[in-house]
Amino acid sequence: MNRTLVKKRIKWFTVFIMILVWPAHLLAMEPQQCPQPRFTKKAPEKIYDLMNPVESTTANLKKGKMLYQTRAKPMPCKLCHGTSGDGSGPMAGGFTPPPRNFTCAETINGVSDGQLFWIIKNGSPGTGMPAYKSLRDEQIWQILLYVRQLAQ
Ligand code: HEC
Repeated sequence: MNRTLVKKRIKWFTVFIMILVWPAHLLAMEPQQCPQPRFTKKAPEKIYDLMNPVESTTANLKKGKMLYQTRAKPMPCKLCHGTSGDGSGPMAGGFTPPPRNFTCAETINGVSDGQLFWIIKNGSPGTGMPAYKSLRDEQIWQILLYVRQLAQ
């Protein structure tokens, strides 16, 4: 294959990828509702009543932020919950119910630490919220310190 042909193919391939990615970005722009309807299954009583045992220090908040924005496996929370936490991540459009809007104090402040911890650890069955088995308990609590700060 000569070089012009290769260049042409690369160009068309790029255009093709951009067409695929474009609608995802359009869907991603809208924040989720506030107050947000919430039908998530309740955590077992003992877990529901847990309070975040990890201290709200700058170091812990920083670790939580890193996990939320980039490090968490299989994928960072921001892909669904959005960089600002308003539920507008690039993957959010694909899910019913939609991702939780962490910026919505009215909804999120009424939900206990233990409940949020439980769903991060085990996922929300029948929804797009995956179980984060790769995270240690301490890491989940660090993420929660960060997530609580996003509520306005
Ligand atoms: C693939 C998309 C996706 C990713 C990635 C994702 N979530 Fe979610 N999340 C959802 C959806 C969808 C819901 C709504 C589930 C429901 O209504 O029960 C949700 C709900 C939640 C809830 C609400 C629980 C409740 O009881 O109200 C919390 C907390 C949460 N996610 C935390 C996280 C954290 C932390 C991460 C990253 C470690 C993360 N999520 C990654 C899609 C995602």
